[in-house]
Amino acid sequence: MAGCGNDGGSGSGGLDVGIVLPTKDETRWVQDETRFQEALADSDYSTEILFSQGSSAKEKENVETLISKGMDVLIIAPHDGAAAGAAVEAAKDEGIPVISYDRLITDTDALDYYVTFDSVAVGEAQGQYLVDNAEGDGIPLYLYAGAASDNNAFLFFEGAWKALQPKIADGTFVIANSSAAEGLKDKAELDRQEIGSIVGQLTTNWDPNEAKNKAETHLTSAGPDLKGDVSVLAPNDGTARAISDVFASDGAVTSYTITGQDADMASIQYIIDGKQTMTVFKDVRTLVEDAMGMAVDIIDGNTPETTATYDNGSMEVKAKQTDVIVVDQDNVKAELIDSGYYEASDFTGLE
Ligand code: BGC
Repeated sequence: MAGCGNDGGSGSGGLDVGIVLPTKDETRWVQDETRFQEALADSDYSTEILFSQGSSAKEKENVETLISKGMDVLIIAPHDGAAAGAAVEAAKDEGIPVISYDRLITDTDALDYYVTFDSVAVGEAQGQYLVDNAEGDGIPLYLYAGAASDNNAFLFFEGAWKALQPKIADGTFVIANSSAAEGLKDKAELDRQEIGSIVGQLTTNWDPNEAKNKAETHLTSAGPDLKGDVSVLAPNDGTARAISDVFASDGAVTSYTITGQDADMASIQYIIDGKQTMTVFKDVRTLVEDAMGMAVDIIDGNTPETTATYDNGSMEVKAKQTDVIVVDQDNVKAELIDSGYYEASDFTGLE
């Protein structure tokens, strides 16, 4: 059990809000669990959080468990966006409203709302950071992507490409590790299939080990012209730390600029230590607040406020979208410590 609270919210006697998160193995979702717990400590609504541990079967089982406990609203971040359709359809069959959380569930009309960060903006911030820090031309650019089963991986790459492509086309960057991206380098806008071909080649599956192995393979086959001062698009912090370690240990790489996202505690330490260049801070407290706010609106019979729509392949999903913040050595203290997100004592070498 991870949720808490009295049952007093809906008065239905069952569970008010069921929350299903993808896996404890990726730091991001442990952050979400913590922030849900903090937000719900004094809540009148009963909640329960279950993890799917990277398995769509387990995810469906979790939804069924929560249905059997009488949940009124489901908040779910899918492991696999398309496969999760079956799980949310089970909830819909019971008349339970569904909120897709952070990751969009695709190819089903059994969704009511989507609460998310602006994921295209995340990718664009990563790409733009590399562009802003590029000096000279012919800079080797190593690209990495998230899991192909996660709709966000497409949105992140779409955003990154928007910023990077003009600078690949004009010779500032030279793509070091993707024939698929190289073949599309003159196209400013890629369709989903084209992004899929690049993501397929560069996927880390959100797994630091897979990221490490890929980076090692890439550096082993790269000649001296693809070393020196390099730029690296890493899709999130977990993979960024693994990829950074590989680049740092290659004597022919003199410097690397590398992106990330999530403001994982371990990556904040990497940024302080100069081992990771930036992260995109997604304030999970806001996402939790928005998701719970929506759930409570639904329970109370009110219409939740939305700010955008997302096409999930079957329907236009009404969404509430949150902005993101770029963090590097210059503003890490202001954004993450002074803001109260983390404690200074969690880190060493913070000025
Ligand atoms: C989330 C990221 C996270 C990644 C891996 C994405 O869907 O938006 O915050 O790093 O999944 O868990």
